Amino acid sequence: MFSNIDILTDRQIREQQLRSAIVSSLNAVPKTLPDILLWEDAGHDLFEQIAKSRSYYGAQADREIMKDKIDEICQSLEEDAVLIELGAGSVPHTGMVLDELCQRRMKTQYLAHDLTQSTLDHSLCRLASELRSDRHKSFLKMSGIVGTYEQFFEWLSKTDELRGRRVVVLWLGNCLSNYSDAEFPNMVDALMQSLSWSGAASSTLLLAVNECPGADVMRQAYDSPDGSSVAFIANALRQANRILGTEAFEYEAWTPVSSINSAGTSITWKFQSKQEIQLVIDERPVTCKVGEDIELITINKRGEADVAKLLAHSRAELVDTWRHQSLPWSKCIRERRYSLLLISHQVGV
Ligand SMILES: C[S@@+](CC[C@H](N)C(=O)[O-])C[C@H]1O[C@@H](n2cnc3c(N)ncnc32)[C@H](O)[C@@H]1O
Repeated sequence: MFSNIDILTDRQIREQQLRSAIVSSLNAVPKTLPDILLWEDAGHDLFEQIAKSRSYYGAQADREIMKDKIDEICQSLEEDAVLIELGAGSVPHTGMVLDELCQRRMKTQYLAHDLTQSTLDHSLCRLASELRSDRHKSFLKMSGIVGTYEQFFEWLSKTDELRGRRVVVLWLGNCLSNYSDAEFPNMVDALMQSLSWSGAASSTLLLAVNECPGADVMRQAYDSPDGSSVAFIANALRQANRILGTEAFEYEAWTPVSSINSAGTSITWKFQSKQEIQLVIDERPVTCKVGEDIELITINKRGEADVAKLLAHSRAELVDTWRHQSLPWSKCIRERRYSLLLISHQVGV
């Protein structure tokens, strides 16, 4: 166990909330399931297999950009800065940044956040074993926080730990792609607002997004021929059964189906019923007709222009873009401060 992990909500309470969300989303029209079910326990291992595959181009692009821009990232973190990683998952790229900061003898506090405690624990233990020299020990402090994004933002707005310090936030792995156009700027705004309230001296967000690479590339990445995407998606039904405490979903009765929208900008995963199905949840029947869909997730591809447009009325300002070869990929977004003086304190990356 990694010793320094805070848990914002007790697992039992979180699972009760998730249970209520499942019940209400199955009773809605059209029926849906919360996509957060993908990240329950085994989902992380299944995702890691996908992320390692060649067709999942996003993970490789994130890594190459981080490697390429490591100098700028280190320069943006001045002495005693805080590096926060949102939805950190298996923390696939951050070790190299932390190592480089220690080589440059820069004191850094690294705070990793994720929804899933076991994943965060495993990732931080792995990082601690990789970064265990005396130099790492003297320059690096690592800790973790478990909770939803909303819970973490609330924690950020109340903590004293960031007061007067420079903060750089990494949000990698295209984590915001499952949020709609209406939700996307609200999420960025909520983060910026909570950093403002925390009293951080300045904050920079490195957000990985990516434009639609074409329907074929998107299908290979998100519905891979080796079946790993289907296994990842199907695991959500297993997790729904676990949270509901009953085998409400029989796997053989459902087909996971993906579809790309006509503009080629998003891919949606649904479960399609093979027969008429009566789910019994909380002793109340939920009927699904033959061929009826339960939507799980839509992954939206957004390019630089889309992101700039969505953030036009938010407190974040797009200040730079780092691209991966042919794929426009990563964006650097810096907070737009209300005070000019504070803007002049910010160090651009
Ligand atoms: C696509 S993975 C990216 C992981 C990692 N950043 C990477 O680049 O490989 C999304 C991560 O966000 C976390 N996550 C998903 N929804 C979340 C939510 N609502 N609140 C907090 N974390 C969430 C998941 O647990 C998962 O680790």
